[in-house]
Amino acid sequence: MRAPPPPVAENLTWHGAELDLDARRGLLGARGAVLWFTGLSGSGKSTVTRRCERILIEQGIFAYVLDGDNVRHGLCRDLGFSPADRTENIRRIGEVAKLFADAQVLVMAAFVSPQRADRDAVRALLPEGAFVEVFVDTPLEVCAARDPKGLYQRAFAGEIPEFTGVSAPYEAPLSPEIHLRTEGREIDDCAQEVVSWLRDRGYLGARQA
Ligand code: ADX
Repeated sequence: MRAPPPPVAENLTWHGAELDLDARRGLLGARGAVLWFTGLSGSGKSTVTRRCERILIEQGIFAYVLDGDNVRHGLCRDLGFSPADRTENIRRIGEVAKLFADAQVLVMAAFVSPQRADRDAVRALLPEGAFVEVFVDTPLEVCAARDPKGLYQRAFAGEIPEFTGVSAPYEAPLSPEIHLRTEGREIDDCAQEVVSWLRDRGYLGARQA
């Protein structure tokens, strides 16, 4: 994995926190991490992350969703869906997610993120164990049948160029930490699988969701 290039600006000095990581985690009660949900449009990323977020917050755990469609209204409003724009989209989100994780928030990033190298670059930004790849594995036919935004119908009609799974590739994770199959399952069941995974590995600290 190539290290990110150094900043363009010179004369910069990193300023660290007064609290060390253990103190921060102890006081805040949970361990920050980035749960990176990747999968086709319509696979269920947004729905499952929103349910996880609710379950965790109701247990007093600071969780927050960064969602592709939402982020593209602001931070990434200048980006489209070319491979280079997707790379820049994921790079920016990765940096934002890293800041949240350092603040000890459980961040759930819900992005198609079809390019394996882009996801691996985010993993490389984070400390060991702080990047959890969640493959939201829903077959294309199921996503296209759900078609919650009517995009597949338009993409199959040739109206949306570079549409992931139709006219642009999706590179599935090779060894995701969580392989979430959603077909025929309830949202709550999927969300509980993720929350249980976090609980079993100590991410939820003293506050057990
Ligand atoms: S990513 O590829 O750069 O990770 P991102 O998750 O931010 O994509 O945005 C994907 C969302 O944008 C989809 O859920 C869909 O609603 C919308 N979208 C619009 N055009 C496309 C396209 N060409 N390919 C994929 N998603 C698209």
